[in-house]
Amino acid sequence: MTTFTRYLLSKRTIDDRALNGHVWHTLQMEVTRRDRPLRVLEVGAGVGTMVERLAAWGLLTGGEYTAVDANPACIATARQRLGTRHAGIDLTWQTADLFEFAAQSSSQRWDLLIAHALLDLLDLPHTLPLLFNLLQPDGLFYFTLNFDGGTIFQPPLPGDTAVETAYHQTMDGRPGGSQTGRQLFHQVQRAGGQVLAMGSSDWVVHPVNGRYPADEAFFLHFILDTMENALSDHPALDSGLLPDWLHQRRAQVQAGQLVYIAHQLDLAGVVRSA
Ligand SMILES: C[S@@+](CC[C@H](N)C(=O)[O-])C[C@H]1O[C@@H](n2cnc3c(N)ncnc32)[C@H](O)[C@@H]1O
Repeated sequence: MTTFTRYLLSKRTIDDRALNGHVWHTLQMEVTRRDRPLRVLEVGAGVGTMVERLAAWGLLTGGEYTAVDANPACIATARQRLGTRHAGIDLTWQTADLFEFAAQSSSQRWDLLIAHALLDLLDLPHTLPLLFNLLQPDGLFYFTLNFDGGTIFQPPLPGDTAVETAYHQTMDGRPGGSQTGRQLFHQVQRAGGQVLAMGSSDWVVHPVNGRYPADEAFFLHFILDTMENALSDHPALDSGLLPDWLHQRRAQVQAGQLVYIAHQLDLAGVVRSA
């Protein structure tokens, strides 16, 4: 297992709590209305936790599921964990860049397109039309855990505002960005989609009786390491502030005291004619 694949597995319980129930139920109603086994495509599928969830929570009971991720270690882990058939669903795992996959799949069409914790890494005006083009007419989309500009740690520390602002600036310097969640509604419309449901899916991680559930302490350390990597040379942070802030936050994880909240949004909808 790589550090990254362990991170993706460690966030499973956190994602389960975070996913928006209203958006989920809207998608479930649309899936039920179609009344046939669906062809599903997930891009940036990581280690396959979404298809497991869709089966466990009863949204998919059969059909075909194609999962694409650019990271070979993710696809190898997913294949090892779930094989080629899981809970009546036929699985295809493919290591590929989604843009190359989309270009090579121009003759194929899917009924449901999923991107979970992915779109805040991508250029929406470029990506959404390419993805929608892979859908059948009346095809569905489920875009979940789209980061939306809130990184909160408790208890408060003096450097919090400077660290949060600088961290979001690093996201804004790359495709996607720190306000992807709120931008998605109109970006989806511009690309020809219709949003049927939208709602918050914040990550909320907290200790219970001084201990973090499952592997969530590892998840918190991964988040802090990610922030350290992103911010190590940031010009707006005084030298010393970041190491001191990280030292205190890591100590709070060890002591079972840190609460972490990330604001995110889910959307589900339909593309009437792709
Ligand atoms: C934050 S992870 C989320 C993974 C998974 N959806 C989950 O939540 O467990 C983003 C994933 O998208 C993949 N990814 C990013 N850009 C991609 C691209 N252009 N094509 C395919 N996969 C990509 C990464 O390899 C990574 O596994």
